[in-house]
Amino acid sequence: MKTVLVLGAKGQLGRSLQAIAPAHPGFQFLFWDKEEFNITHYSDWDTLFYVQKKYKIDWIVNCAAYTNVEKAETEREECEELNVKAVRMMSDFSHQFGFKVLHVSTDFVFDGEHFLPYTEDDPIRPLSWYGQTKATGDYQVLLRSMEAVVLRTSWLYSEYGNNFVKTMLRLGAEREELKVVCDQVGTPTYAGDLAFAILEILESDLRGELKAGLYHYSNEGVCSWYDFAHEVIRQAGLPAKVLPIETGEYPAVASRPWYSVLNKKKIKQAYGLQIPHWTDSLRTCLANMGIINN
Ligand SMILES: NC(=O)c1ccc[n+]([C@@H]2O[C@H](COP(=O)([O-])OP(=O)(O)OC[C@H]3O[C@@H](n4cnc5c(N)ncnc54)[C@H](OP(=O)(O)O)[C@@H]3O)[C@@H](O)[C@H]2O)c1
Repeated sequence: MKTVLVLGAKGQLGRSLQAIAPAHPGFQFLFWDKEEFNITHYSDWDTLFYVQKKYKIDWIVNCAAYTNVEKAETEREECEELNVKAVRMMSDFSHQFGFKVLHVSTDFVFDGEHFLPYTEDDPIRPLSWYGQTKATGDYQVLLRSMEAVVLRTSWLYSEYGNNFVKTMLRLGAEREELKVVCDQVGTPTYAGDLAFAILEILESDLRGELKAGLYHYSNEGVCSWYDFAHEVIRQAGLPAKVLPIETGEYPAVASRPWYSVLNKKKIKQAYGLQIPHWTDSLRTCLANMGIINN
């Protein structure tokens, strides 16, 4: 049996992995958040020496990250500590302890000047500090780890923590009108689907079929944040009206790409994944939250 250590386990993706882990009996999972294992502390990485005496860790799935795009512009050092320096430590320790790395990244590494979905080979040009640190972290993982998969995803939401869907549900219940930007286009990703894809990748390793490298994963389809909000309100059956506004009308410190749709051909071919459309996955999430019936 292989052992998988999930770091940042109380975040959206970490909890989504916990929810489906029991369906994967070929693995023993350890779910640790920063109280158990702070990825920025060298001393915590060092304790893996003792952990290894009990468990041989085969994989680290890193769900820990600095994810607040707005605050990252002012909390630059904290963001860099988590998204770059800690990730570099993880990659370097992978050789000493012999674990493979699955790391998660973002569509915000791109500048949004494209009109076609971004492939893994397209050049990056992050517009925000968050995007910059994530891009640097990705390369640390790919260049320095023993063996790694880096998954770039976009617009993540789930039943857990804070996210766009939950904000729209709250505001949609409180207000008659919601104003949401209509000129930033991408694809929402249900963290439950991303967790499923991650476990498919780990399962491929059990069969000796792992294909390491950089991949893009989001749900299928394309929408603006306005479309996304509109669909949340519609599916939840809330009476609030959703109105489109332009990016300039919404106060934000960080710049975001206009267009950040990810091309998923590579991951579909490598791992035979069937990816749900974002509107279907939204329905799954709302049903799991008990907001609509299955
Ligand atoms: N959210 C999105 O829209 C989005 C979009 C594209 C890509 N991504 C990427 O997807 C991945 C997962 O995102 P997510 O939304 O699941 O993130 P999240 O909900 O913010 O979870 C991150 C987790 O990491 C923990 N953490 C923070 N500092 C830590 C430390 N020093 N050591 C260990 N754990 C620490 C956090 O704990 P606290 O909450 O207590 O700080 C939290 O439990 C990230 O790599 C993110 O960059 C996210």
